Parts: sequence; C-alpha cells; structure tokens
Amino acid sequence: MKKNILIVPGDGIGQEVTEVGKSVLVKIAEKFGHEFIYDDALMGHAAIEATGNPLPDETLAKMRASDAILFGAVGHPKYDNDPTAKVRPEQGLLKMRKELGLYANLRPIKLFDELLGASSIKPEILKGSDILFFRELTGDIYFGEKGRKNDNNTAYDIAEYSRYEVERIARKAFEAARTRRGKLCSVDKANVLETSRLWREVVQALAPEYPDIEVEHQFVDSAAMMLIKDPRRFDVVVTANLFGDILTDEASQIAGSMGMLASASVGDSTGVYEPIHGSAHDITGKGIANPLASVLSAALLLDISFGLKEESDSIIAAVDQLLKDGFRTKDIADSTTPADKILNTQAAGVELLRRL
Ligand code: NAD
Ligand code: IPM
Ligand code: MN
Repeated sequence: MKKNILIVPGDGIGQEVTEVGKSVLVKIAEKFGHEFIYDDALMGHAAIEATGNPLPDETLAKMRASDAILFGAVGHPKYDNDPTAKVRPEQGLLKMRKELGLYANLRPIKLFDELLGASSIKPEILKGSDILFFRELTGDIYFGEKGRKNDNNTAYDIAEYSRYEVERIARKAFEAARTRRGKLCSVDKANVLETSRLWREVVQALAPEYPDIEVEHQFVDSAAMMLIKDPRRFDVVVTANLFGDILTDEASQIAGSMGMLASASVGDSTGVYEPIHGSAHDITGKGIANPLASVLSAALLLDISFGLKEESDSIIAAVDQLLKDGFRTKDIADSTTPADKILNTQAAGVELLRRL
C-alpha cells in the first residue's frame, strides 16, 4: 500500500513522543511491505515562532493533501500564563479540527493488564475496564461566539449545537456499540443546559433505530463519579466537546497514565491521530515522556484510515509485550519496578521496535 503521512509534532513533548510514533510507522512499512511517504509541518508555538500563525496555510494545505496525519501536541507556558495573548498555539489545533471537519474524536480507554498497579484506583475495580469515548469535536462552547462586554468586565462563551451535529456523532457511537458490548451511555447536563436537552432529545429519537443497543443517559457530574467508582459499567460513551475533554483526562487514570491514551479524530476528510495529552511543560526536555500514546495513535491511524488491522494489532501486541517484559516509563512505574526497567522516551522506543 502506498500512502502519504504528514507528521506534525507540534510543541514540548509532542516533538519527543511523535518521533517514536513515526519510527513505529517506518518499521511497519518495512515489515509489511508498504510504502509510506512522509512530510512534516509546523503547528502551535513552533509555527507562531516561525510564521506568526499557529496553523500556517502551508501546514493546512499539506494536511489536506495527505492520507493521514500523526500529530503530537501544542502549547507553551508563555501563553498559559498570559491570558491576554491574542495569538495562541491552541487556536491552531481548533482551526485544524474545524477546517478538516474532524467532528468525531474517538478516545479508547484501554487498560493493559500489566498496568493494573499503575493507577491510583484499586485493581479489583479496574480489571477488565474497556471504554470507547466519542467526544464531539467541532461544536459546543469551544466554537460558539466568545468575547468581552461591559467595558471588559464581563466575558462570555456561547455553547451551541445543531440537531445535525448531535445526530452525526451519536450515530457513530451507536454503530460502534454494535461492534462491542452493545451499551451506549450518553453524557449531558440536560437538567440545566439547553444544548444538553437538544442532545438528549436527539439521542432518544435515534434509539429506536438501534433496538439492539442498551442506551442510558447520565448527567456529567454523576458520570464523572461513576467513571472511577465502577469503570466497567461503561462500554461506549458519547458526549459533547467540553465534557468529553474533561472526562477523558479523568479516564486516563483508568489506563494508568495520560501517556497511555491515544485518539483518532475523524470526519469529512483526512484523519488526525494524536495522544490525548498536551505538551507537558513540566517534563519537556527531560526525555522521560511516555511515547506509548503516540505509538497507539499510530496504531489507530493504520486501522482507521488505512484499514490495516493486522499491522495495527501488531503494534498493540508489541506494546503489550514491552509491558509484560516489565519495562515502564516513569509515569507508569510503581514501587515494585526495578530501576533498570525504567526507560526514557528514546529507550522505550528502541525496546518497542525490537518487539515489532
Ligand atoms: P498535559 O496533558 O500536557 O499534562 C498533564 C500532566 O500529565 C502533566 O503532569 C504531564 O507531565 C503528564 N503527562 C502528559 N503526557 C505525558 C506523557 N506522555 N508521559 C508522561 N507524563 C505525561 O496537560 P497540561 O499540563 O494541562 O497542559 C500543558 C500544555 O499542553 C498547555 O499549553 C495546554 O494548552 C496544552 N495541551 C495541548 C493538547 C493538545 O495539543 N492536544 C492537549 C492538552 C493540553
Ligand atoms: C485536547 C486538548 C485541547 C482541547 C486544547 C489544547 C484546545 O485539551 O486535545 O484534549 O481542549 O480539545
Ligand atoms: Mn484535553
């Protein structure tokens, strides 16, 4: 198979982990006889420094022309600590999602058995957890009108959803539930928000078309609690942009670490594959970031954008073997991990490639 893959490392640990994610794609192409052609592009703080724009037109054009995109993360402390900055790395990320029509963000929360001890949640609560989040990605309070009024003394962000936007993400979640355990939990705040009442109305109206799926509706506050009280009760979860952002960072603790969670953003055109974590200023440059979220994102890319299931599964098997052999990055190590099994980012990549 011949494909064009765009590598967009972004900022901070995005650059460190994406290098490992790409090396896995290179190895897969070699092993399975594919021809992957790579290009790279700037985004985020790196792009602002070079061009003044967090998503330069050149990057967007390369994105549209590629068959799939492996993305790292964007962000820089300079902007996090300056609420008045007008140009920000995250604007590039949001613009990419909107421009490419990436309305569905799939975030699988898969716990590798070997990491049962890595979480702060008790192993007997966690064992067997396997959740697939569908986070709506191009609507909600992220994309509505925002601004200041009242002489700059009042700020507002408008949350908005159309029936069409809710229906298309809900259908994707219903279909996915069919291929899994047949359960769908729709998470909203319909007791307070009008957007959530529309959301619930749309999901309720679709349910009769999927009589084989057991549907439940939960309020987001209660869902946040249930996620760590009893994660096994969830199969597929569908929710709005902001709720999905928050709940999946929480759910990363089910998988042991932010460094373990991959995601796929899909919709109208080229798919984007990225860890759910950010640029992690606190560990940038230390070489200790866990690259497995990027590696697992590369596995999602092969499966979802190219239909290469065997190749994708072989990456997941290599991750499993790496963990079975006792290797850990710092974020997933615990008091029982011997010092010589704690790897830095690069060494984790090397050991992983050996197992591919
Ligand atoms: P973060 O996800 O970058 O980090 C949260 C915590 O998790 C940190 O303690 C970090 O060290 C740890 N962590 C994250 N990924 C890890 C990995 N691979 N290995 C080991 N530990 C890991 O979130 P934050 O600190 O709130 O945000 C930092 C910056 O990233 C901000 O500028 C934010 O806007 C940006 N951000 C970008 C994205 C994205 O590009 N998709 C996502 C989230 C945050
Ligand atoms: C994510 C991030 C982004 C989001 C930010 C950086 C805009 O947290 O990809 O989860 O909120 O969607
Ligand atoms: Mn997030």
